[in-house]
Amino acid sequence: MKPREIKPEIYSVGAIDWDRRLFDSLIPLPDGTSYNSYLIKGSEKTILIDTVDPSMQDVLLNHLSELGVKSIDYVIANHAEQDHSGAIPQVLEKYPEAKVVCTPKCKGMLIDLLMIPEERFITVNDREAISLGDRTLEFVYAPWVHWPETMLTYLREDKMLFPCDFFGSHLATTDMYARDEGQVYEAAKRYYAEIMMPFRTSIQKNLEKVKGYAIDIIAPSHGPMYDKPEFILKAYHSWAFDEPKNIVVLPYVSMHGSTRKMVEYLVGALAERGVTVKQFDLAVTDIGKLAMALVDAATVVIGTPTVLVGPHPNVAYAAILANALRPNLKFISIIGSYSWGGKAVEQLAAMVPNLKVEILEPVLSKGFPKEADFKALDNLADTIAEKHKESGFA
Ligand code: FEO
Repeated sequence: MKPREIKPEIYSVGAIDWDRRLFDSLIPLPDGTSYNSYLIKGSEKTILIDTVDPSMQDVLLNHLSELGVKSIDYVIANHAEQDHSGAIPQVLEKYPEAKVVCTPKCKGMLIDLLMIPEERFITVNDREAISLGDRTLEFVYAPWVHWPETMLTYLREDKMLFPCDFFGSHLATTDMYARDEGQVYEAAKRYYAEIMMPFRTSIQKNLEKVKGYAIDIIAPSHGPMYDKPEFILKAYHSWAFDEPKNIVVLPYVSMHGSTRKMVEYLVGALAERGVTVKQFDLAVTDIGKLAMALVDAATVVIGTPTVLVGPHPNVAYAAILANALRPNLKFISIIGSYSWGGKAVEQLAAMVPNLKVEILEPVLSKGFPKEADFKALDNLADTIAEKHKESGFA
């Protein structure tokens, strides 16, 4: 695809990665992604905002050539992670006069990660502005969205915000702007759950900070831009500020059917009590879907058989992941089966120290579940429904 003009002298020059299916060797990308980079030709200065993943550096460099860019004054690095910064060394090589503009923390990281020479940097303070002649860029520190060095760039005259990962989505699309709002909402929520949710308090602070700017267009560095910014601002506000909902997330593994029988029973019992349940078989689930479900859930019930005295390894993986993502959960419980004993409950509880949750009485069945186990699952469903009601989630 050719570079695209967004407005006079403002271009989208990044790359769409239709085929990428995994990020950080961890996060599934069912819809690919994009690494957006933006070129602004001011009357006096030409600047580039963020670059692209190193695997796509040729796309960026070709776009710059196609637009006849002879020199670049500043490369704005909003964020040091390599999917945006990784092509900076190649841009600096092609444009030897260019300086990298970033926060002091970002400078240190870019020197560490990419060995960019110190003399190529200009660091900026929070709210500092630079003039491009007819246009002005303002830099807005936004720490922990989602690394400590991050900043946003605001183009005053055009009321455009370039927030890098913030408000982004892993979505490959030819739409310049979010048009299929259902698809973009899903991709942006998945992105929030996987990348931003661990920093919910920082997200809240930075959402408040962004409120101080009049914004016509949000141009993130993944996924489509937003020419109706309230769509994504409202979504982020709800994900970051809302109380949990009357939802139980139930990730589980079953080896011979006992845990699965308990899961099925509990799902039915919760549904009868008006609680929404989202059930995930960890042997096959997309962990991005699980992360998204955790954004709104009040409770997690983990279903696991006992394997070698502990939880099933897939369950341990999901527990460690949930602990790292720090969802706004309030309650947790464990159900499952064992044959001769074990420490699945103790081990799982020790894996989630970040979750500030009340632990509800686990239900463990010796072998296939029997009447007393189903009674205990009914009690657990009663407790969850009551807790949700008392907390105002139902
Ligand atoms: Fe898209 Fe944090 O990099």
